[in-house]
Amino acid sequence: MKVPLNRMFVDDDTRKAVLEVLESGRYVKGPKADELENIFSELIGAPFSVSCSSGSTALMLAFRALGIGKGDEVIVPSHTFIASINGFQHFGAVPRFVDIDRETFTMDVDAARLAINDRTAAILPVHIYGHPARMDVLEELAVEKEIALIGDAAQAHGARFRGADVGVLGDMTCYSFFPSKVVTVAGEGGMITCGDPELSDLLKALRNHGRYEGERDVSSMPGFNFRLPEIQAAVGVVQMSHMNKWIDRRREIARIYNEELEGLDWLTTPVEMDWARHVYYLYVIRLQDRDRLAEHLSSRGISTGVHYRVPAHKMPYFKGAWDLPVTERTVEEILSLPIHPLLTEEELKYIIGSVRGFRP
Ligand SMILES: Cc1ncc(COP(=O)(O)O)c(C=O)c1O
Repeated sequence: MKVPLNRMFVDDDTRKAVLEVLESGRYVKGPKADELENIFSELIGAPFSVSCSSGSTALMLAFRALGIGKGDEVIVPSHTFIASINGFQHFGAVPRFVDIDRETFTMDVDAARLAINDRTAAILPVHIYGHPARMDVLEELAVEKEIALIGDAAQAHGARFRGADVGVLGDMTCYSFFPSKVVTVAGEGGMITCGDPELSDLLKALRNHGRYEGERDVSSMPGFNFRLPEIQAAVGVVQMSHMNKWIDRRREIARIYNEELEGLDWLTTPVEMDWARHVYYLYVIRLQDRDRLAEHLSSRGISTGVHYRVPAHKMPYFKGAWDLPVTERTVEEILSLPIHPLLTEEELKYIIGSVRGFRP
């Protein structure tokens, strides 16, 4: 049996939606991107949603909109995909890496508090693997210190902190629609949610060459072309209509994995804190023999992943020593098992049986 780590959902509605755009002749700045923004706002509960060309450009737009740049520091976990950090770096801001909480893999909020200094302009928690960060503490901190709070929810569509969707917490929340994500657009795409209408207008202008709505010939500021193409938006609209059902299925698969693997004393299953709604973009176990288990599963046709093997602070272009013991230990131990709504019961059983059959 071959079990991929991920598989994208494509149905007749998706095919029809793509063909409609192809035949419409409207490939950018059309009605589908608007429709996706409206559906996104409705499902996430966010007052404003601004679509864009990727999760990476969502982050760039967010930092650009707040004018964060040279001389500024951003508090961010090192245990994340490098795109979390790239965005603000392009504007001259630098990361102040903090360690993670060992259980949830998200930002250690005590470390975040200690890391704040005169140069801190923003905190960027990453809701990694689909588990929310401790947003109450971070919101308090951001208000107290008068700094921005931007959530990286690239992996966390629909994740909730104490019942509130992560998309309504902080100043802005950035999403990715990369093909593996909880919701995708069959290509590159992103979204930013926020609660401030002026900020929403600014983000929309920045993604469209600095032109505010209605401006055609005059740019109000230097902007970008970070728009979401219509074909991608049309796929996103279909995908969003399945989001909640898919999250339920991801959660159900995680429950079964937890039940079936919990008895194995050589691995640790992921946790969901009682204040969290985990959406299980990834199901990440921890164990000493990570690479050997990955090889064992691979020999049985099962794909796994390591998200991520090299933490951001170890990238060769970052100078300086960082003291991040939990992050450095975690990256040696983590392994992502297949989890997605199209995973069959048979595949799930096969994976569980294969993990249980491993001798550490
Ligand atoms: C945590 C995190 N941040 C940012 C990104 C960037 O998103 P994209 O790949 O859509 O640019 C990703 C996704 O790949 C991600 O996982």
